[in-house]
Amino acid sequence: MNIISCKQFEKREDIQDIFDITEKLSLRLAHMNCHWLASPILWNKTMASLFYEPSTRTRFSFETAMHRLGGNVISTENASQFSSHAKGESLEDTLAVIGRYADVIVLRHPDREAAYIADRCAKVPVINAGNGDGEHPTQALLDVFTIQKSLGSVDNKKIVLAGDLKYGRTIHSLIHLLSLYDNINLHLVSPVDLSLSNEYKDICKNKGIKFTEWQSLKECLSNNSVDVIYMTRIQKERHETLTQRLRTYPESWKLGETEFNMSGEAVIMHPLPRNDEINSCVDQSKRALYFTTQIDCGIAIRAGLLYSILFERN
Ligand code: CP
Repeated sequence: MNIISCKQFEKREDIQDIFDITEKLSLRLAHMNCHWLASPILWNKTMASLFYEPSTRTRFSFETAMHRLGGNVISTENASQFSSHAKGESLEDTLAVIGRYADVIVLRHPDREAAYIADRCAKVPVINAGNGDGEHPTQALLDVFTIQKSLGSVDNKKIVLAGDLKYGRTIHSLIHLLSLYDNINLHLVSPVDLSLSNEYKDICKNKGIKFTEWQSLKECLSNNSVDVIYMTRIQKERHETLTQRLRTYPESWKLGETEFNMSGEAVIMHPLPRNDEINSCVDQSKRALYFTTQIDCGIAIRAGLLYSILFERN
């Protein structure tokens, strides 16, 4: 099984299965009252992390999950420079070779098409860890898992998506997954030049997600009570030319002290990395999940996926 795009999850049971495996795995390991390493479920399996773009969370959490399951990790954190890509090797050739070393490949690449090339040609399962401005399916899985764990369910939620909705791959994957739930209301807060593309607005329309676009976060929050505020940074590396206006995050889209005080009981999420779109005064709040629940769910979901791909389906 490859994990390439959230489009591949056609019904909510598909992702609930992954959540159930994740919960069962966490519970089983907790019941054994031991560190995950003492339960080497994947002792004879190797994961290759092949990252052509920088990463803190995705690579480390996949590698942490694999270590905790007793598996082996081979890794390059800068494949553009330190793999033979730098000598002109094609992605297809690299995957052919790494597929002889590893049982699963976790791939991050700046090119949208790379994940689909891997889907077609790799001889071992591939997990898309981010393909340019396309998608980031494992981030969306952990985000929805975080919402479900924190708020009890995902149905009927009012969710603010703020920031770079045009190039933000976590946003794209999240919209695919949210479309599997009932009565989702989105509030889209972004500069006009970074608003959600028609492709994703059409998905919302076709799948029954209601959405409203706002010119500022303060305006959105003063007119609505919401359940989740999901902030994102401006994806500067995806902009060929960045207008002066967007070099710094516009004040009206930031979550500062005022906006936080207006946000009622809403949980605050961010896939990270953060630039300056959330004021650090928010970080210590129990409602801020980006350094706590989201990080923990990142390891858990990725462990669930690795277990599911490498163990349960064998
Ligand atoms: N959320 C996320 O993808 O973070 P990294 O870029 O640090 O992996």
